[in-house]
Amino acid sequence: MNVLILGSGGREHAFAWKIAQSKQLQNLYIAPGNAGTKNCGINVSIAANDFEAVKKLVWEKDINLVLVGPEDPLVKGIHDFFLNDEILKDIPVIGPKKDGAQLEGSKDFSKQFMKKYNIPTAKYASFTQQTINEGYKFLEELNPPYVLKADGLAAGKGVLILNDLTEAKHELKNMLLEAKFGNASSKVVIEEFLHGIELSVFVLTDGISYKILPEAKDYKRIGNGDTGLNTGGMGAISPVPFATNDFLQKVESDIIIPTINGLINEQIDYRGFIFIGLMNCNGSPYVIEYNCRMGDPETEVVIPRIESDFLDLLQGVVTQSLNKKLLTVSPLCATALVMVSGGYPEKYENNFEVSGLNIETDSHVFHAGTKLDANKVLTNGGRVFAITSFGQSIQQAISKSLACANNIDYKNKYYRTDIGMDLINMQSV
Ligand code: AMP
Ligand code: GLY
Repeated sequence: MNVLILGSGGREHAFAWKIAQSKQLQNLYIAPGNAGTKNCGINVSIAANDFEAVKKLVWEKDINLVLVGPEDPLVKGIHDFFLNDEILKDIPVIGPKKDGAQLEGSKDFSKQFMKKYNIPTAKYASFTQQTINEGYKFLEELNPPYVLKADGLAAGKGVLILNDLTEAKHELKNMLLEAKFGNASSKVVIEEFLHGIELSVFVLTDGISYKILPEAKDYKRIGNGDTGLNTGGMGAISPVPFATNDFLQKVESDIIIPTINGLINEQIDYRGFIFIGLMNCNGSPYVIEYNCRMGDPETEVVIPRIESDFLDLLQGVVTQSLNKKLLTVSPLCATALVMVSGGYPEKYENNFEVSGLNIETDSHVFHAGTKLDANKVLTNGGRVFAITSFGQSIQQAISKSLACANNIDYKNKYYRTDIGMDLINMQSV
């Protein structure tokens, strides 16, 4: 089978690494990929959003399955593009169509969906330019902190959490009247602040049945101790010690099952991943957000823990026989440590040569933002590598990731040294 993965980050490298191990694979293509994915398959220099170029590639390389990594092409309708094209219509795409991708593409849609299907989430209301005064009133009724979310995709920056009412009103005005996040904030969701600890659960569905993949916790802030600016993710761990069986059962019965049934009821034929961002509020799960794709760097701990043939699971999605497939998961702890370019998530420089990648370690180095230049690996993004290690405990795994990160060098390298440390005392080992 010939497979095409769309995307260029650590998530796509982890997918490529895993799919390359499948007996069912013939050729693997990654578009555009990075210096790491080149070791798993063939990189093709086209952008995931260039649907016409993707079409040409699928045709030329006789691709049998397309796995979409990032949300952008999904929200823009790549799956619908395939279904509406004479040449592509029978080529399966893993990832929802535009209707299902709204779970991530529109916060208002996802909140309405959760409300309709009684899925636990923070109380909310949505506002537009026309209803801004009601928005101010709604803020006055809430207790701080105030949570303001741009309805549409805003490159992960569309959520503001503010302690002060005047500031919250000012930001609501900026979003609705001054287009702070462009068109994405022409509608704003205001919601109640949830107190608790966050984690993510990942579901793979064929539109009828589903498999729950390993859960993970992501570390979003740039600095140790969860300080500083928000990033795309500085590290991840799986399993999550506070995600007990009891808690995960509640997630399945109160969130996953109603979500899958809700999609069926809405006649949304969803084939792909649902990434559910959760808040554990005193043992009860609440949905913070849905994403229509896997997380990054969460994928770099979730995928390595999966022992089953991942391509076979994806085939189960295509043939709607996921319930007949076996999902086995390693009981070991996995940690991913993200190495970034100094300055990230603000301004940073690219094109620094990387050394130390050939030193033998017990870790797996997933490339996130790299490129090859005459066989040299150069930095090419804010997040450069995700270093995944296994251990009997978080501590054992993270020590390996830290040792590996110490070996790898490039100008202005930076990483957090406390990934998973907050959870070490919570472990039952
Ligand atoms: P989102 O893009 O919806 O995931 O929001 C980004 C981040 O904002 C989440 O990962 C949470 O840390 C935080 N957040 C969003 N909504 C809430 C909420 N209702 N209560 C507390 N924190 C929230
Ligand atoms: N790590 C968070 C995300 O992928 O959205």
